[in-house]
Amino acid sequence: LHSDERAADDGIPVADITAAGLTSTPMQQAMDLARIHGPAYKRRLGDRETLFLSSLDLVTEVADESRFAKGVSVVLENVREFAGDGLFTAYNDEPNWAKAHEVLMPAFALGSMRTYHPAMLKVARRVMASWDRRVVDGTSLHIADDMTRMTLDTIGLAGFGFDFESFSRGDTPHPFVEAMVRCLQWSGKKFARDPHADHSAEDAAFRADADHLASVVDEVIAARTASGESGDDDLLGLMLGAREQGDAAAAAGPTLDLANIRNQVITFLIAGHETTSGALSFALYYLLKDPVALRMVQREADELWGDQADPDPSFEDIGRLPFTRQVLNEALRLWPTAAAFTRQAREDTVIGGRYPVKAGELVTVLTPMLHRDPAWGDNPELFDPSRFSPEAEAARSPHAYKPFGTGERACIGRQFALHEATMLLALLAHRYRLIDHDDYRLRIKETLTLKPDGFTLTLAARTPAD
Ligand code: HEM
Repeated sequence: LHSDERAADDGIPVADITAAGLTSTPMQQAMDLARIHGPAYKRRLGDRETLFLSSLDLVTEVADESRFAKGVSVVLENVREFAGDGLFTAYNDEPNWAKAHEVLMPAFALGSMRTYHPAMLKVARRVMASWDRRVVDGTSLHIADDMTRMTLDTIGLAGFGFDFESFSRGDTPHPFVEAMVRCLQWSGKKFARDPHADHSAEDAAFRADADHLASVVDEVIAARTASGESGDDDLLGLMLGAREQGDAAAAAGPTLDLANIRNQVITFLIAGHETTSGALSFALYYLLKDPVALRMVQREADELWGDQADPDPSFEDIGRLPFTRQVLNEALRLWPTAAAFTRQAREDTVIGGRYPVKAGELVTVLTPMLHRDPAWGDNPELFDPSRFSPEAEAARSPHAYKPFGTGERACIGRQFALHEATMLLALLAHRYRLIDHDDYRLRIKETLTLKPDGFTLTLAARTPAD
């Protein structure tokens, strides 16, 4: 770490790092710096300063919607280069945010998950069909890759009636995924560039990738239009139903223009799969390392599905897997896969009784450190799903846990992610024994979102006796 501690005029410690000192894992570096400098520090990189907040007290203040709103960070400004004014990257006062939010909210109510359940199950069965082959041939699985295949296919099918068929592509991921990962990496790194170097080649490569994302979206929209189906109440159906069509636009509700619909489709394809895939990968990692928790997930699944070889989970079954859900919650506590979110002060204010923040200034919540606040007890690094028992949750501040962000701009897809991930995790635990063939040690890869790096396991079929 190239850092030294100096108090700035406002009393906030400053960690100076050079652009060369910014590692390829900037979130983990920011966590290390928080361990050195405390719950409020500024990272200075060239002439850019970012105020990172990590404690429950400070986050409680910036979660107050009357004092702070979502901030579009410098990284999100770069994501806007390919996701435009989609929900995730829109400014608070951009009219398209409120319009799209109103059009799309009904699609994310808990009841709507019933609509997506069959598509989620269909893709979960693809995972198992693919994993069954690994049981037979004994080869290892790249967990994060398979989870990404599964979540991409799920958001494609459930949201847009579009099939990415990621499990029929052998080892190569869908080109959309590769282009997306490069776009996210470009966005995450651009702010730390050397201003004097020539970046035209990487920018051209980025443009080509962004164009590819847009072309996939056009394919998705064209497939729907060609099918002649309305798609009823899926995401694309809702947006096309609310599409601006000149004077004939329905006056009853908000309308979206085609450019915005494209931005939303890109946004959902990215936001809707990358983070959930990481969450599932971390949950599988912790289950692999914690036989007691794995046994409890298996028991919960066995109670629902007995020793059926091919269970047929109902929508209601997913609400009957509370411990499996606790495992996911706890995995997202230790490694919230969208590891930071930004807040913007509405007025000049002071936080923590001593840190001045000016109107319009951005502050960044370092979620993995919030999730290790002393409010979590003596051993915050320990994986312990009982932290999410109803009693433990009731006793804790709601601001101690923010993997889905906060307030009006919190994650719209939270129920979607949890329904999809809970079902898959329970089905996998019901069907397989997980084998730690490589004695895997957790390393974390960052591509804006977090994933276990190089995590593989092998499988055996579970028998009723297991
Ligand atoms: C917003 C995390 C899954 C769609 C957010 C935010 C976070 C987050 C932290 C707030 C960002 C900010 O304040 O700047 C996660 C995690 C997920 C997940 C950890 C999985 C475990 C999903 C899914 C979808 C989705 C499945 C869609 C189907 C969105 C959208 C927004 C958002 C559209 C922007 C909402 C708005 O500002 O109106 N997510 N997300 N996310 N998420 Fe998620």
